Amino acid sequence: MQYNVTIPIKELISKMTLEEKANLVVGAGKSLRVPGAAGETRNIRRLGIPSIVTADGPQGVRIEGDGKPYPATAFPSAIVLASTWNPEVVEKVGKAMGEEAREYGVDILLAPGMNTHRNPLCGRTFEYYSEDPLLTGEIASAFVKGVQSQGIGACLKHFVANNQETNRFVVDTIVSERALREIYLRGFEIAVKKAEPWAVMSAYNKLNGKYCSENEWLLTKVLREEWGFKGLVMTDWGAGEDPVAQMKAGNDLLMPGNDDQVKAIIEAVKKGDLSEAILNRNVENILRVIAKTPAFKGYKYSNKPNLEEHAKVAYEAAAEGIVLLENRDSTLPLDKKAKIAVFGTGQIETLRGGLGSGYTHPKYVISILEGLKERKLNIDDELADRYEKYIKEMRAKEGYKPRRPGVPLPPLPQDFLSEDEMEKYAKRNDVAIIVITRISGEGWDLKPEKGGFYLRDDEKRLIEKVSRTFHKHGKKAVAILNIGLPIEVSSWRDLVDAILLIWQPGQEVGRVTADALIGVINPSGKLPVTFPKDYKDVPSWNFPGEPPNDPRAVVYYEDIYVGYRYYDTFGIEPAYPFGYGLSYTKFEYSDLKVEVTEDHLKVEFKVKNAGNHPGKEVAQVYINPPRGKIPKPLQELKGFHKTRELKPGEVEEVEIRIPLRLLASYNGEKWIVEPGKYEVRVGSSSRDIRLRKEFTLTNPLSYKP
Ligand code: BGC
Repeated sequence: MQYNVTIPIKELISKMTLEEKANLVVGAGKSLRVPGAAGETRNIRRLGIPSIVTADGPQGVRIEGDGKPYPATAFPSAIVLASTWNPEVVEKVGKAMGEEAREYGVDILLAPGMNTHRNPLCGRTFEYYSEDPLLTGEIASAFVKGVQSQGIGACLKHFVANNQETNRFVVDTIVSERALREIYLRGFEIAVKKAEPWAVMSAYNKLNGKYCSENEWLLTKVLREEWGFKGLVMTDWGAGEDPVAQMKAGNDLLMPGNDDQVKAIIEAVKKGDLSEAILNRNVENILRVIAKTPAFKGYKYSNKPNLEEHAKVAYEAAAEGIVLLENRDSTLPLDKKAKIAVFGTGQIETLRGGLGSGYTHPKYVISILEGLKERKLNIDDELADRYEKYIKEMRAKEGYKPRRPGVPLPPLPQDFLSEDEMEKYAKRNDVAIIVITRISGEGWDLKPEKGGFYLRDDEKRLIEKVSRTFHKHGKKAVAILNIGLPIEVSSWRDLVDAILLIWQPGQEVGRVTADALIGVINPSGKLPVTFPKDYKDVPSWNFPGEPPNDPRAVVYYEDIYVGYRYYDTFGIEPAYPFGYGLSYTKFEYSDLKVEVTEDHLKVEFKVKNAGNHPGKEVAQVYINPPRGKIPKPLQELKGFHKTRELKPGEVEEVEIRIPLRLLASYNGEKWIVEPGKYEVRVGSSSRDIRLRKEFTLTNPLSYKP
């Protein structure tokens, strides 16, 4: 059907009946047009208003299909995209996902997920970007721009402070306005202002006593009045309790939607409990978005997205997100001819991503073992067969059998090879690789226990046994971390010679892993989140709230001191700091210049590849503030730049502009930049500062929220 695109929205609203309006603000329950997509709005045929389809999610387009396959690229998880620190690459991923969504008939992609990494146990950490709001906001902006360049909408989620899965439907998040504005809201603010997303999804949880979806302060005052958001707000699926309160708060669309909600809204208007003007406002917000969609324009989607091209994009982003955590005596890259013994069932049961609504249905996933074989690395085939057989045998046993796809596999005991076998593999190979995996997903958080934040005993025994035996024969051991959130590493990292953090990098996982091992890829990812030494060091010690077994409320006692803001200010040594990541080459920094203008800082410096491999560097700018009236973190990330690939000896001149506004703290009323001596710190990580320069601000600055 060709929909009429010329009717002005106000006029259209004036023609709508109350019933039609109530139907528009409540979703259709499920998608009929694209079966198994996460949701669809209701159409109003009489007026030429089509339904629009929404689908997950951050790791790739998820359409369950109800029997019909909707293969889509499994892109790297969000945490990998943030680890790239490369908005250009992330924009390409957004573009590719946008094209896939559009070609399957989707109008709004339910991504990016951009909640702050408050605690390493949050089950959806892999789906979110970072513990730092600037990195989150910049990466999200690039992603949104990419998606929306394809003529469909992106949806920032979950707004806001949805930092745990435990009791997410009911838990009350108690957090100060300062922490909200400086940490939890900030990433969203950047993305709203920079990338103009078509939609925002309100979160399940309560915020300071009110469900996010019923919170007028959040959805109307902050989001629309202060930030100028022009799109539509939808609920998370089944969020909140009171449809009328949601309407009033500025939650335009209730998803997935049911008839009771429609009825409640009609009755409330009739009784005078909900003014029709509010309903009209929400209808208008939805119609403005509908008018931009492919559905409204009558776009004929092909059901044939360009999966071949997008596999390359998935590879490129995964490659840039790999973080090299350890590399003693230049263990990596490996010689291409090296004989490699691969340990750990994760070489076959490799994780492309986390679980839940972000699940994906790719055409294929290249496991680590397949990737090594495809790249013709010299692996110990007999050992690989041993693992194939072990997995087959174990997965047939009660307790280890796979359940349906998308449900975590019960973990297999890793320590099943005898000392004699180990001896044999160590003798005839040059190097050992040990794959460690950790799955997590929507709906459940990990525990600060073995098998959660800590390695299980069998995993540790495998690492000990392999490294002891290989070292005895003068050979090296390399750990590969196929995980979606930070885990404990301090107690075992010295046993191995190198650690490659590949995260959960999507369907090309095996290929990028092989290429990074042999140096075809020079790792250039940096940590978007701190790896704490021990769980007791984590500032959000009361996660997931009180009472711990069934929390109703979670108080953010650590306030603004989230991630490195805490570890740096209070002198706690992490295992790996924020922004950290090694390379096969080394970089030198020089010639720092800082210029203060009326409204920004101009920071210039040079980065030189001073090693032997071509490589990219992520240069980070932190600001150390003066001691003023408002207590502040020791330093905060205020800018970053990823260089192009520099050849050995090559230099890039970097210029980063930092708005002075970004230096402000929120004092409960307004944003204040206090006068005094500031230090610009340019570094390769938050704890590897290479250049410093002071500047003085003589006058205070202040801004309205
Ligand atoms: C998740 C959202 C998702 C939605 C639709 C919810 O359970 O929290 O992230 O977009 O389901 O699948």
